[in-house]
Amino acid sequence: MTSTVGIDALGVAVPSTCVRLEDLAVARNVEPAKFLQGLGTRVMGVALPDEDTVTLAARAAHEALQSAGVRGDEVGLLAVGTETAVDHSKPVASYVQGLVGIGSNCRVFETKHACYGGTAALQLALDWIRSGSARGRKALVICSDIARYGVGTPGEPTQGAGAVAILLGEAPRLVALEPGVSGVYSQDVHDFWRPLYSKDALVDGHYSVKCYLDALEGAWRNYRELVAEVPPAGSFFSDRFAALAYHVPYGKLARKGHQRLRELDGDPTPDTSFARLVEPGLVLPSLVGNIYTGSLYLSLTSLLACHPGSLEGQRVGLFSYGSGSCAEFFGGTVQPGAHARVRALGLMERLEARRVLGIPEYEAIMRERELIDERPAGAATETGAFGYLGVEQERRTYARRGAA
Ligand code: HMG
Repeated sequence: MTSTVGIDALGVAVPSTCVRLEDLAVARNVEPAKFLQGLGTRVMGVALPDEDTVTLAARAAHEALQSAGVRGDEVGLLAVGTETAVDHSKPVASYVQGLVGIGSNCRVFETKHACYGGTAALQLALDWIRSGSARGRKALVICSDIARYGVGTPGEPTQGAGAVAILLGEAPRLVALEPGVSGVYSQDVHDFWRPLYSKDALVDGHYSVKCYLDALEGAWRNYRELVAEVPPAGSFFSDRFAALAYHVPYGKLARKGHQRLRELDGDPTPDTSFARLVEPGLVLPSLVGNIYTGSLYLSLTSLLACHPGSLEGQRVGLFSYGSGSCAEFFGGTVQPGAHARVRALGLMERLEARRVLGIPEYEAIMRERELIDERPAGAATETGAFGYLGVEQERRTYARRGAA
């Protein structure tokens, strides 16, 4: 048996350009309060034509390795969870391996199950470490996606783009994850999907909300059965957590999910714990939008970066949902020094430094992105290191770090 296993470092990449939902609402002739309060999102990241799932993943991976002081040859498993891959065959993870310099004695692959794909990879990687197969090496799991529903659709204000890289290992410095107790719930539903011919996701919006809430209920009931703990008098089962991170397609759904969870706990005022348990985890998601696989982990990063108090030594709960569907509820304990390590990434500063796009420019970028898979190499790039350079001889090409 191995010692404690969990998250040793995080890395986050978001595009350097964004749209304010207030501006989008005005352009779509919608009351801004609908997007800002009704959905609970303020800003959504918009990827430029020289960014894709690979560039975001590589930037996040580089940051996680740097933050941990871990070399590429210390990683024995590299998995990218994504639902917006760039190739039907070659995994995003192989591009990342080349770009960030992961050694050859490494398992490299991609996982898919809508927004749950990253969690599937994470759970698999944790078991790989706990089984002893890792032999002291780290696992690098990257959740990377560009969420796109199309201009003028109801889903448009719930877009976003970004990646979260999660370095996993023994004696983790951020969050030790509970072994063996994980509540799972899955169903064959058609709430959200993306046919092979389409760059835009299709969604049965209100039904997808119902599916999310039903899956949360199923995973939570399963988790409670496995933990089988009676809460102390005067508290509810979910008070075993000092904070909760949910999958956040938009902040309002995390709020609704939390209400459902507290109702299941028997809390007669299910919204009163929202500010204490959930709100710090929504700060970063409300400034980035839905990043699909990375969304839950951006919420966890937000808890560690933006919580007004300290979560160190305390338990946090994590709820992952992927349409289609699969959901999982699991937990872990925040390690000493975790807040300082995550704050050192300077995420808020980076988000504040983004260029805000006007709506015509955003729409032009959306049109240009339609064609990025055929973009000829040699087009202008703004992104720099790891930027997407276009296609040459049917092969995607990327800028290398340090290359002239
Ligand atoms: P809609 O139909 O345009 O919006 O689309 P609505 O009419 O439902 O309004 C949204 C909220 O704003 C409502 O709040 C309104 O009351 C409120 P609620 O009643 O739900 O509490 N509202 C206002 N509030 C304040 N002032 C106002 C005002 N007007 C209205 N003036 C929908 C909303 C989410 C359906 C749409 O954006 C959509 O289809 N989004 C994409 C799908 C999605 O995000 N689904 C979430 C669950 S599925 C999931 O999480 C998986 C996913 O991440 C993908 C994956 O797994 O890969 C999506």
